[in-house]
Formats: sequence, structure tokens, C-alpha cells
Amino acid sequence: MMQYDFDRIVDREGTSAAKYDERVKNFGTDQVIPLWIADMDFPTAPPVVDALVKRAQEGIWGYTSRPDSYFQAVCGWQERRNGWKIDPACCSYALGVIPAIGSMIQYMTAPGDRILIQSPVYGDFFDIIHDNNRTIVENKMIANGDGTWSVDWADFEAKIKTVKMFLLCSPHNPLGIVWQREELEKMVSLAKANGVILISDEIHSDLIFNGKKHIPAASLSPEAAGYVITCISATKTFNMAGLQASTTVFPTVEMKAQFDRFWRNLEIHRNNAFSLIAVETAYREGEAWLEQLKVYLRDNFQFVHDYCAQQIPAVKAHIPDATYLMWLDCRELGMDQDALAKFMIEKAGLGLSNGKGFAPSLAGYMRLNAACPRSTLERAMKQLEAAVKAL
Ligand SMILES: Cc1ncc(COP(=O)(O)O)c(C=O)c1O
Repeated sequence: MMQYDFDRIVDREGTSAAKYDERVKNFGTDQVIPLWIADMDFPTAPPVVDALVKRAQEGIWGYTSRPDSYFQAVCGWQERRNGWKIDPACCSYALGVIPAIGSMIQYMTAPGDRILIQSPVYGDFFDIIHDNNRTIVENKMIANGDGTWSVDWADFEAKIKTVKMFLLCSPHNPLGIVWQREELEKMVSLAKANGVILISDEIHSDLIFNGKKHIPAASLSPEAAGYVITCISATKTFNMAGLQASTTVFPTVEMKAQFDRFWRNLEIHRNNAFSLIAVETAYREGEAWLEQLKVYLRDNFQFVHDYCAQQIPAVKAHIPDATYLMWLDCRELGMDQDALAKFMIEKAGLGLSNGKGFAPSLAGYMRLNAACPRSTLERAMKQLEAAVKAL
């Protein structure tokens, strides 16, 4: 039975929600349904809201001390849900997964160093490499033609030999891939054999569907545990990215200490008063909410998939195995990427993520964020149908 009401529309306009209040900046108009940046239009788990209200009412939010129970809650979640045993002494706090990755790029690599990614992939991977003056190396995924994608292994094996670092997106945004054990083993052993730093971004790993199972790369074997650096965060799972807190899990306490030194040098080592309580409460008391959220999201994917198949066959919406993001194959509309992006904004009234941000060399793809009430998706699909039929 549904205990939480994911159908309820929450008006986020004017609340400084980037998804809504940056529409003019991003799309040139606020007349689009925002289905882009990866947060959800659902309030988080009620125990987290209650804990934050209580904290807010204290009225004093001074410098905040992180108790041992914080990382114990992070580790407990991973052990319970993924069977991954982590030593809390190897966990570090950061302001977010991208800030954590950015810091590691800065102190583990040098300008000009080559960093491998598997595109199409989360756009910030491109930006954080480029903006730090490192070199982007793309292992381009191969489309199988049925909405699924595969690794080009020959290309991966050639390129991993030429890079200093590999940013693995596991599960994969935007393709929704849950990596299989053999694939992960191959990636880890090739990275290790070539002395390549492997950072596994597992921020979407609590959002897994279709009977698939997420395997933390560091949990594969003792060898992997001694090699892989993992980024996880309750902020994606529980829709609190604005609180800015993630966890980085290191193979050794020495590696953790090195990371902490980087952040300490910026005097950034404390959670803020709200993230501290929100993360721990979410991991300890949010599981029932997450399980129901996943049921709702899976139905959302089905709705979008079926609507496109039946009414808008030129747009193919593959059901992802992970994340709440759907990679739309719009190639049959026959537009170049700029025309497609313009069409979605001006004709369909949709604020989607432009596929170009995930793969500069691909054309014909857009990404849709399906983490919103069903009625929002119904409006979006009706608008898209009308726009396509008017072509
Ligand atoms: C793969 C991936 N990594 C990292 C992030 C951002 O994480 P954070 O907000 O913790 O920097 C996102 C957000 O969408 C993401 O999809």
C-alpha cells in the first residue's frame, strides 16, 4: 500500500529551486515544464523533514561536530543494502560528489593529464576535467539499436593505457545501466594493471529497478577494495542536493587523510547543521520511503515509455535499470541537435537536458527527468505529442 503521496504537486516556483527558477537562464523562457536538472519534485522522507524542522526550531546553528554515528549510518546503509562492508575510518565528508571528484583531479593529477570517461555521460564529468585543464578521453558507448548500450571494450582497453584517471559512472547516467560483475571486474583489473586511478561515482546506486542489483565496485574483491575510490551520497536518493553533503570511501586511511588535508586547507571539513542531521536520519529512517518512491518511479518510466510507443513512435523512451532519468532517442524526428533542443523548448514546451551536454558528438538525444508527479508527465507527453504531430 502506498503510504506516501507522490502524486501531490508541490509548487516549487519562486523557492530558489534551480530546476524552476533557472529556466529563463537555461531555456530562454519560463514557459517550459522543467524536466532537466537531477532533483525530484517530491518532498523527502517524512522522518528527515521532522528532524530538520526540529533542528530549525532550535534557532542556534553553530559550528557543527560530526559524531561517529554519522559515518556508521553511511556504512550501515551500504552493508544492509549492498552487502558492502566499509570501515568508517576510511570515509570522508565532502560538499558533494562533483566537488569531491574535482578535488581529487586537482591533487592526484597534473594539468594536461588524460582522464577517461564513458560517453554519453553526466555532463559535469566533461566540465570538471576541462575546467581543471586536464584532457578528456572518451570511451564512446555503442548503441545496440534497442535502447540498450554496450562498452566498446577494444577502445576501452586501448585508452585505459593512456590515461591517469578513470571516472566510472556506476550506475550510469544517462543510460541507466547497472554494470554487471564481469564488466566491473574487467574495468577494475584493467585500471589496476595500468596504474590508473579509478573513481567510481555511485551517486545513483540507491535507485535501481527491474530486478537488477547494484554491485559497489570496491566490494568486488579484496583487490578492488584496495584500489577503488567510491563516491556516494544520500542527497540524490533523498532529494536534498541543496544540503550539499557526500561521502568518499577510500581504500586506506592514508588516502582518506590526503583527501581530508585538501579540504582542510580550504577550511571545509564540517557538515553544516542541517546536512548532518538529514543524512544520518535518511540512512537510518528513510528506507520505507525510498522503496515506495522506487515503485512510483518505475511506473513513471512505464508511462513515458508506453505513451511514446503508442502516440509518439518517433521518440523512443527506453526504461532505465537505474537513476530516474530517461534517455530519449529522438533521431527519427530528423533534426540536428540545435534544432531538436529548440523544438523541445519552443514547440513542445519542455525543459529537457540537451543530449549534447552528455556526448558532444552525438545528435538526436535528449534526457528527461521522470522524478515528478505522474500528472506532470501526462502534461509533458501531451505537449510533446501535439508538437510532433504538428510537424
Ligand atoms: C553521476 C552524477 N554524479 C554527481 C552528481 C552531482 O553530485 P553532487 O550534487 O553531489 O555534486 C550527479 C547529479 O546529477 C550525477 O548524476
